[in-house]
Amino acid sequence: MTVTLVIGTQWGDEGKGKVVDYFSKHADYVVRFQGGNNAGHTIKVGEEIYKLHVTPSGVIQGKIGVIGNGVVIDPESLLKEIEDLTKRGIKPKLLISDRAHIIMPYHKILDGAEEQYLGDKKIGTTKRGIGPCYSDKVARNGIRTNDLLDKNTLDVLLDRILPIKQKIIDAYGIDIHLNKKEILETFANYGNRLRQYITTTHIELNTAIQKEKNILLEGAQGTMLDVDFGTYPFTTSSHTIAGGSTIGIGIGPKHINEIIGIVKAYTTRVGQGPLPTELLDKTGTYLQQKGHEFGTTTNRPRRCGWLDLIVVNHSCMISGITKLAITKLDVLSGLSKIKICTHYQLDKKTIDYFPANIDDVAKIIPVYKEFKGWKEFQSDTKQLTDLPKEAQIYLSFIEKETKVPIALISTGPGRTETIEV
Ligand code: GDP
Ligand code: IMO
Ligand code: MG
Repeated sequence: MTVTLVIGTQWGDEGKGKVVDYFSKHADYVVRFQGGNNAGHTIKVGEEIYKLHVTPSGVIQGKIGVIGNGVVIDPESLLKEIEDLTKRGIKPKLLISDRAHIIMPYHKILDGAEEQYLGDKKIGTTKRGIGPCYSDKVARNGIRTNDLLDKNTLDVLLDRILPIKQKIIDAYGIDIHLNKKEILETFANYGNRLRQYITTTHIELNTAIQKEKNILLEGAQGTMLDVDFGTYPFTTSSHTIAGGSTIGIGIGPKHINEIIGIVKAYTTRVGQGPLPTELLDKTGTYLQQKGHEFGTTTNRPRRCGWLDLIVVNHSCMISGITKLAITKLDVLSGLSKIKICTHYQLDKKTIDYFPANIDDVAKIIPVYKEFKGWKEFQSDTKQLTDLPKEAQIYLSFIEKETKVPIALISTGPGRTETIEV
């Protein structure tokens, strides 16, 4: 029996979908524990490409997908995902926690309104209502999956919540009336359509652990978007780090056997906020074009930069990462020189940690080690030792500096373009 956790170590989009799909072959359950449909996880099998937002990536391999209590669910988006997958011949085996929170229409309205109000200080959210939904969860004003199953319960909750939300919407000067009857009918209907999946997933998973099943936990976003340890306030609103996983599904931390941190071979970020190694030159454009760095959820161009080991080490420390999976190594092929950031300079001092203060982060000057580039290699290379020598040197430097062994190298988006070490 193993419980394996896969998380992103950077600003999201590290290739979690690809890696989780790859490891799903060993899993009985694949479980999402945080985030919502702000995530976009891509899986490529042969010529088929799947872009999943809240459905766990393991469903593509026919595994049971669990949406844990820590996830926020937009029912309309989830039902569409189920429908789209079913049309493509994959009827997802889903279990949804009875405690997961629901993204309501006013969450999406307020996400947009807050961003607009912030103007050039905006966070650059995905506008999926994620922040407002998590805020309501903590403020105890949320609506959960189990509430959708009983129309009377939902009715009472809407009576309590909607007037407050209407006041806030009015205060923003937005001309939208929250129609209670319409919301009640729509969400009770979503409840009826999701009823078959909603259950006590925490009991199911703890029973599965007792029965020695294999469980794969799939993170969304990445450490630098974690609400505590990321570039706050330019983060998402959930805990993307290892600590978030057990809270987000209801298992004890001791059950986790392996924590795999995914490291994109360079760095990307979507939305606002600091990115110390950002390349605003032709190399940045090269990485963006060659790596097809455009958001899976919003299609916004991703900002690109060199690999930042201060960021990766910060993630390894905070999440106790036991193995690394390096993705998109192929994208770096063809460059004559490649750099890795090993330290920062802040106010003329050399530092080797990620500062908390966002103004300090903005002042950081990255210190780089330069590596010789390598030529294109076959994306179906199966042995580490068959990779170009310079690529092997690049990888061993990452291992040496993080003190975490590399377990997997991804050399292309496809399932088979993978080297297990
Ligand atoms: P996630 O959010 O972490 O699941 O990552 P995304 O799916 O948003 O973005 C990663 C993108 O890179 C997707 O388009 C993947 O198909 C693609 N990808 C994943 N691994 C590799 C790789 O090793 N090489 C290349 N070229 N593309 C990859
Ligand atoms: P995956 O799982 C990359 C970013 C947004 C924005 C910030 C807050 O595909 O890696 P939110 O809508 O969550 O309030 O936005 O977080 N963001 C992501 N960036 N990958 C993601 O998910 C992201 N999910 C949110 O761009 O900067
Ligand atoms: Mg993504």
